[in-house]
Amino acid sequence: MHATYLALLAGSMLLIIEGFPSSFSSSTTTPSTSIRSVFGGHSRVRSRFRRRELVQEEVRKTMLSYMTSLKGEITDVVLEEMIDYYNSQTSKLYRLEKEVVHLKNSSSPILPNGTNINDLVLRMSKQQRSFASNITNIEHKIKNLTNILNDLLHELQKPVQHVRRLVPIKKDFEENETPTDCDDILRQQGSLVSSGIFRIKPRLSSESFDVQCIFENNIAWTVIQRRFNGSVDFYRGWNDYKNGFGDLRSEFWLGNEKIHQLTNQGQYVLHIDLKPWDGPIRTAEYGQFSLDNENQNYKLQISQYQPSVSTAGDSLSSSWDNANGAPFSTFDRDHDNLFYDNCALTYHGAWWFTSCFQSHLNGAYVRSPLALQNTARNGLHWNTFALYHSMKETTMRIRKQRTSETSEIVTN
Ligand SMILES: *[C@@H]1O[C@H](CO)[C@@H](O)[C@H](O)[C@H]1NC(C)=O
Ligand SMILES: *[C@@H]1O[C@H](CO)[C@@H](O)[C@H](O)[C@H]1NC(C)=O
Ligand SMILES: *[C@@H]1O[C@H](CO)[C@@H](O)[C@H](O)[C@H]1NC(C)=O
Ligand SMILES: *[C@@H]1O[C@H](CO)[C@@H](O)[C@H](O)[C@H]1NC(C)=O
Ligand SMILES: *[C@@H]1O[C@H](CO)[C@@H](O)[C@H](O)[C@H]1NC(C)=O
Repeated sequence: MHATYLALLAGSMLLIIEGFPSSFSSSTTTPSTSIRSVFGGHSRVRSRFRRRELVQEEVRKTMLSYMTSLKGEITDVVLEEMIDYYNSQTSKLYRLEKEVVHLKNSSSPILPNGTNINDLVLRMSKQQRSFASNITNIEHKIKNLTNILNDLLHELQKPVQHVRRLVPIKKDFEENETPTDCDDILRQQGSLVSSGIFRIKPRLSSESFDVQCIFENNIAWTVIQRRFNGSVDFYRGWNDYKNGFGDLRSEFWLGNEKIHQLTNQGQYVLHIDLKPWDGPIRTAEYGQFSLDNENQNYKLQISQYQPSVSTAGDSLSSSWDNANGAPFSTFDRDHDNLFYDNCALTYHGAWWFTSCFQSHLNGAYVRSPLALQNTARNGLHWNTFALYHSMKETTMRIRKQRTSETSEIVTN
């Protein structure tokens, strides 16, 4: 019965999806040019387009919440049925058991018609087997239902992705609705949203910009640095590090100004992943991370190293070489503690150098096997993990500290 119901449902949902306005598919190929030219000065077209988009968004949201609740309901119904069935079978088995006990106790185990205990026991175990196989069947059915619903929800995400790609273009008239960070996106779009590139506008920022968001276990991360194959040159000057460089789909530095704006609209956690050439990923996490503004040379504020979740050691705020409070240095803006040397130049990168570093993840990309014996120390280094080994991959990402976490820390 449910299968039929679902098949019908699946059919109609797919129809709805296929029936989605063709602007989704046509605008994905060249969204910026086509829509911008349509918008150029034609405010009526613009407002009609916007109205249509709002309606589409409304339909999408309704469909999503409908599907989500439906999924829960169907599972509930099937589960209830299963429990009822289980209860009825259990009482049947109980009656049979009682019968057996009674027979065992009675003086004449042979029934008038030749039935004996063995037959009863046989009947009972047959019933048990059938009962077990029926339960398994129901479990399969539930799995099937869940799969179908998940597929449908996934289908629904497709048009959502198209809508998302349009968001950056709408910025000129949707300023107030632009999310302030990836966490905002997660809250706006729900836990079904998948990781990717999104446009955000931190409260301190006058312009919106794209970021890479990672949604993981209902936590939203904004990636601020990514290295993995050496395709992007990280030996760059102050302005490049200020504004960001590289490609969000590949290697990049988000930009000190953006990191400053992001990390000053709440308390942010910094999580660093380090993948060496010869082993598994290690991590370092800090409960508090922010950058001061450019007048302060993007000074690093970092604390609350989290030993319980970190496996790479603390190479940013340890007592030996504490980069907390260190300004950012590039080869053309030297703010390190060495008056006779320029750390950025010597180690071919840019960082919150002290004299010079415990960690430096913006160095030269050194390939294996050289990376394992990089005595020059101009690679991607995290000293508490490996002094001479230059990392194969690094990711620096941040997330907004939730209020519950903040209060925990305050009360502790
Ligand atoms: C069967 O006999 C046992 C003891 O031999 C007794 O404890 C039990 O209550 C009896 N059961 C029935 C259903 O008479
Ligand atoms: C014995 O069982 C048969 C069918 O299994 C039934 O037709 C018959 O009436 C039973 N006899 C007695 C005495 O219960
Ligand atoms: C298991 O399901 C089949 C088909 O629905 C039914 O004929 C059979 O009686 C069920 N078994 C039990 C133990 O209820
Ligand atoms: C449901 O599960 C059966 C196997 O138990 C499988 O053959 C069938 O394709 C599944 N149906 C769907 C729609 O997933
Ligand atoms: C690095 O990865 C990016 C993105 O996957 C790819 O476009 C680029 O060609 C790669 N470069 C090298 C040098 O492997």
